[in-house]
Amino acid sequence: MFITFEGIDGSGKSTQILLLREYLVKNGHKVVTLREPGGTELSEYIRAVLLNKKLEVSDISELLLFQAARADLVKTIVLPSLDQGRIVLSDRFFDSTTAYQGYGRGIDMEIIEKSNQIGSLGVLPDMTFYLNIERSVGIDRDKEKDRDRMELSGDEFYDRVIHGYDELAKNESRFITIDGNQDVKTIHALVVAEVEKLINK
Ligand code: ADP
Ligand code: TYD
Repeated sequence: MFITFEGIDGSGKSTQILLLREYLVKNGHKVVTLREPGGTELSEYIRAVLLNKKLEVSDISELLLFQAARADLVKTIVLPSLDQGRIVLSDRFFDSTTAYQGYGRGIDMEIIEKSNQIGSLGVLPDMTFYLNIERSVGIDRDKEKDRDRMELSGDEFYDRVIHGYDELAKNESRFITIDGNQDVKTIHALVVAEVEKLINK
């Protein structure tokens, strides 16, 4: 089973993944948690390039780097873990590419979709949680954090990214949208209820 978490920076994805992992392990499941970009040696190198604010990266190069990192992660970890019957929880997957590189950067959607197929090796999440917050909330939560290259993309970029997520949530039945302004425990309870439904299906 493959479950992904989406939302802008600071929306609470890592917090919820940690809690869900704890819950699932307690209930006897074997769980693998990942973050994108990253999770393999190659993908962590690519992550460092993508987030390095000293680098200028063109939009298409950025897209291809995210997909290169993803393809390595899927081949090395996601597919073998799914084959072993583990529950894979990922902090972001290709919906991030649709929202950030598609809606945010404005790359043609046909290119985005084709590249998502290539980068994911055709793997599709069973369920995707979208934690919905405003950009100002994310900035407020992460104000101690040094801004990376992506986070320096500006308010209008983030408005487009949020619009992109909202469109995905409307069109994709695997999307579960949760108001990310609620407290951590309330969100966790909503996540657990949906995951239990999926497990018992
Ligand atoms: P993301 O992984 O989406 O960037 P994090 O889980 O790292 O987000 O959360 C960003 C910050 O906000 C952290 O300091 C975290 O403790 C805090 N946080 C997470 N969820 C909530 C929430 N529901 N309400 C308030 N603060 C939260
Ligand atoms: P990260 O620190 O992991 O994000 P967060 O703070 O949300 O946990 O940084 C990853 C950044 O890369 C984030 O700004 C979103 C962006 N990104 C894309 O633009 N496209 C993608 O396909 C992925 C996976 C991430």
